[in-house]
Amino acid sequence: MPSQNITSASLIERWVRPEIRVIKPYYVPDSDDLIKLDAMENPYAWPESLVEEWLEVLRNVSFNRYPDPAAYKLKQRLCKSFAIPDTMDVLLGNGSDELIQMIMLLVSAPERVVLAPEPTFSMYRMIAIATGMKYVGVPLQNDFNLDADAMLEAIAIYQPAVVFLSYPNNPSGNLFDVDVVCKLIEAAPGLVVVDEAYYAFAGASFVARLKDHQNLLVLRTLSKMGLAGLRLGLLTGNPLWLSEVNKIRLPYNINVLVQVSADFALGHQKIFDQQTSQICHDRDAMLAELRGLKGITVYPSSANFILFRVPTGRATEIFESIKTHNVLIKNLHNAGGMLSDCLRVTIGKPDENQAFMRALKAAMI
Ligand SMILES: Cc1ncc(COP(=O)(O)O)c(C=O)c1O
Repeated sequence: MPSQNITSASLIERWVRPEIRVIKPYYVPDSDDLIKLDAMENPYAWPESLVEEWLEVLRNVSFNRYPDPAAYKLKQRLCKSFAIPDTMDVLLGNGSDELIQMIMLLVSAPERVVLAPEPTFSMYRMIAIATGMKYVGVPLQNDFNLDADAMLEAIAIYQPAVVFLSYPNNPSGNLFDVDVVCKLIEAAPGLVVVDEAYYAFAGASFVARLKDHQNLLVLRTLSKMGLAGLRLGLLTGNPLWLSEVNKIRLPYNINVLVQVSADFALGHQKIFDQQTSQICHDRDAMLAELRGLKGITVYPSSANFILFRVPTGRATEIFESIKTHNVLIKNLHNAGGMLSDCLRVTIGKPDENQAFMRALKAAMI
C-alpha cells in the first residue's frame, strides 16, 4: 500500500506516461439553451409517429441478456444500406472513434508512426498518443488540399503503420483529390484508413476501390446522418484485416438498444435521405451567402459544415459575439497554424442558419 505521504499527483507522475499527462481531453462546451451549430450533428428529430413505432420495438428488447456479440442482423442491414460489396467484411464500433482506437491498438508498437495531413480530425493524434505511437502531421496546402509531394516524402521517411485520411476532411470540409489519395495508398507500407464520416453529404467514397488495395480500410459513422446519440460506427475492408481488428474489439461493444434502434432507423432510410438533401441544399445556400460577405474567406464544403476565415485577429471576438446571439459554433483559432482566424459552422435547420447569419453579420460590423 502506498504510504500516506505519497500523493496521487506523484503517483500519476510516476505511472502515467508524460505524453498522456500533457494531452488535453476532447473538449465539448456547454450548449444549454444555445442553437447548437458546433458538432456536425443532424438538427432534425424524427416525426412523432416514427418515435412511437420505435418505442414499440424497444418493448421487446431483452435487457437481461447480453446483446448479439456479432450484431449479425444490424450488420446485414448496414451492408445493404451502405452498399458494402459481398467480398468485404464489416466491423462495428461504439462510434467510429472506437474503431479508430481498435485500428491503432492493433498496429501499435513503440516508435511506430501514425500519419495524417494537418489540420484534420483531432482524435487521430489523441488516440495515436494514447496507444503509445508517434503521430506525424503533414501540413495541407493553403487551400486545404493534400500536398502530394510532402505526404509521399513523409510516408517514405516515417514508414507509417497507418495513415488516416478524413474524406471529406474535418475541419476543412473538402474532398481530397482521388488520384493523390490513390498514390498515397499505393506508396504506404501499412494501412490507409479513409474516414468517410461525412459520406452522407459528399456521396464520394473509396468503398468501390477496396478490392484494388490490400492495405485500404474505410470508416463510416451513423452519427452525422442523424444518429449521433446512438454511437455507431462501421469499418469495412478485406476480411483478413477485419478479423485481426476484431481481436481487439471488446465483446458486446454494441449494446442491445443500439442494435435494435439502428436497425429500426435504417429501415426508414428515406427520412434520413430527405434530411440529408435538405442539409446539403441549406449548406449550398449558406456557402453562397457567406461568399457575399466582405472580410470573410469561405472554403468549399462537401460535408454538413463550413469552414471560414475572418479578418486577422478577430476570430475569438466574432465567435463570442455570435454566442451572445445564442448561437454556438466552433472556434478553431486556438488550434493555430492554418486554422488561425478560422471558425466552423454546422448546418442546422433553416431558421437556425438564419440566426447564425444574422449573428455573424452583426459581429462583423
Ligand atoms: C472525420 C471524423 N471521423 C470520425 C468522427 C467520430 O465520429 P463518431 O461519432 O462515429 O465517433 C468524427 C466526428 O466528428 C469526424 O469528424
